[in-house]
Amino acid sequence: MQRFVIKSTIYQYDSVEELPEKEQELVRLARESAQRAYTPYSGFRVGAALLLQNGSIITGNNQENAAYPSGSCAERTALFYANSVNPDSPVEVMAIAAIKKNGEPVDKPVYPCGACRQVMIESEIRYGVDQRVIFTGKDKIMAVASVKDILPLWFDNKFPDPGHV
Ligand code: THU
Repeated sequence: MQRFVIKSTIYQYDSVEELPEKEQELVRLARESAQRAYTPYSGFRVGAALLLQNGSIITGNNQENAAYPSGSCAERTALFYANSVNPDSPVEVMAIAAIKKNGEPVDKPVYPCGACRQVMIESEIRYGVDQRVIFTGKDKIMAVASVKDILPLWFDNKFPDPGHV
């Protein structure tokens, strides 16, 4: 028997102002995009903003559906759109934000669901470029340098021999 310990590095910032200016802009755009989410069922509005290597910024938000599983999270809405309009440009940074009913940012950072993490890792591996991800709460901002930090033992296109242990 062998025992492996999986480690991830997660960075914490105590305010948005601690981030580089370009990333502050991404957080602002993710929050703004959340205002436009379609969430008649959960009322939980999430926005994502992506900075691509070519400098483009793409946003997306959650789009719910009366047939619940047919809806899409903010992260996948944004990523699929980014990859469809800029197929040659890797995503460098993704900022994720959720807002309360009154439009204010939620207190604690929001982390993506498992299905979104899978789509995010596909994008990271497809371009071979690590994707920084910023999870935002009101004054608590967390970040990872790669999707691999939030999806250890990921499933990838190397199947049946994955690109890890
Ligand atoms: N949701 C997102 O858009 N992103 C997340 O990271 C978590 C969950 C959405 C899906 C659904 O529309 C609502 O939030 C409640 O689950």
